[in-house]
Amino acid sequence: MKAIVYTEYGSPDVLHLSEVEKPAPKDNEILIRIHATAVNFGDMLARNFKAVSPRQFNMPFFFWLPARLAFGLSKPRQPILGSEFAGEVEAVGTAVTRFRQGDQVFGYVGEGMRAYAEYRCMPEDGCVTLKPANLSYAEAAVIPYGSIYALSLLRKANIQPGQKVLINGASGGIGSAAVQLAKHFGAEVTGVCGTPRLEFVKALGADHVIDYTKEDFTQSGETYNLIFDILGKSSFSRCKKSLKSKGIQLFASFKMKQLFQMLWTSLLGDKKVICAIAPGSLADLISVKELVEAGKIKAIIDRCYPLEQAAEAHRYVEQGHKQGYVVITV
Ligand SMILES: NC(=O)c1ccc[n+]([C@@H]2O[C@H](COP(=O)([O-])OP(=O)(O)OC[C@H]3O[C@@H](n4cnc5c(N)ncnc54)[C@H](OP(=O)(O)O)[C@@H]3O)[C@@H](O)[C@H]2O)c1
Repeated sequence: MKAIVYTEYGSPDVLHLSEVEKPAPKDNEILIRIHATAVNFGDMLARNFKAVSPRQFNMPFFFWLPARLAFGLSKPRQPILGSEFAGEVEAVGTAVTRFRQGDQVFGYVGEGMRAYAEYRCMPEDGCVTLKPANLSYAEAAVIPYGSIYALSLLRKANIQPGQKVLINGASGGIGSAAVQLAKHFGAEVTGVCGTPRLEFVKALGADHVIDYTKEDFTQSGETYNLIFDILGKSSFSRCKKSLKSKGIQLFASFKMKQLFQMLWTSLLGDKKVICAIAPGSLADLISVKELVEAGKIKAIIDRCYPLEQAAEAHRYVEQGHKQGYVVITV
């Protein structure tokens, strides 16, 4: 089968179209003919992981080392990127009961990757389910990563109707889903992003948008019940005055400092820090599918690139011009 393979870390130039062995499903697995996959944060990180120092890594050092070992110290251990997909079940293992040949599915494989390929096997109890009926393969492929993490993390902050919520990083994979989900939960949503993506975040349904290159939201005098920081670009000391009484600052990316802040704010004060890791579970994917079918989450696609132009797709995302999701069609 055809796949995009990389054997060394580096720029998008390391991504090459190659012929690799087609996988065969085990008894408990399904073989998926992939129709579309996406370029997300994880793909960009994994492609050049060697260049990410512990300081640049968005998580504590004790996550960096295992991640570096898992991805490969000097060269990638897993030569095919792609952590989310949509496609069709081509064959099922003898013990499979949840799926049938011809089912249209979508799913998330996380750091297991290997979705930049014509085929991929998944265990039937993995993070894969029937594709939302109202989405094309291209639209469905960009939904899982951002939506399952945003849903799980917003639930950890116990988001409530009527709350004022600020999403710092509202135009990215997790943030764009978080904007839509926070609206679905009945919140008044402010999205913070860079200048080129203000219109995109408005189109997602944000009530207000803030351009982080022009305005520091902590200086506006506005207060929020929840500040959800995706990349960990803000700090609790600066955001404290922007939180209402009993307000929460939720970090999807955090360092030791935020972990200590979580500890002491759990004991003292009425404003809390929460650092959370979401599991990326099948249950969340099924909830996401239902929300997509109810029209609560949409996939705004910027560009689609064919598989053989995966390097071009990475270049486009790296340039920072994207206005929505970037799809790779297979
Ligand atoms: N906790 C968990 O369970 C979990 C799970 C998965 C991932 N993560 C973490 O989530 C992060 C990736 O999130 P993602 O996929 O949404 O990333 P992404 O798609 O790259 O989006 C990054 C967002 O951050 C914004 N941004 C960049 N610089 C900023 C600044 N100085 N101030 C405010 N916003 C800024 C970007 O805005 P513009 O593009 O408009 O400039 C964009 O909206 C990683 O750190 C990863 O470790 C956490």
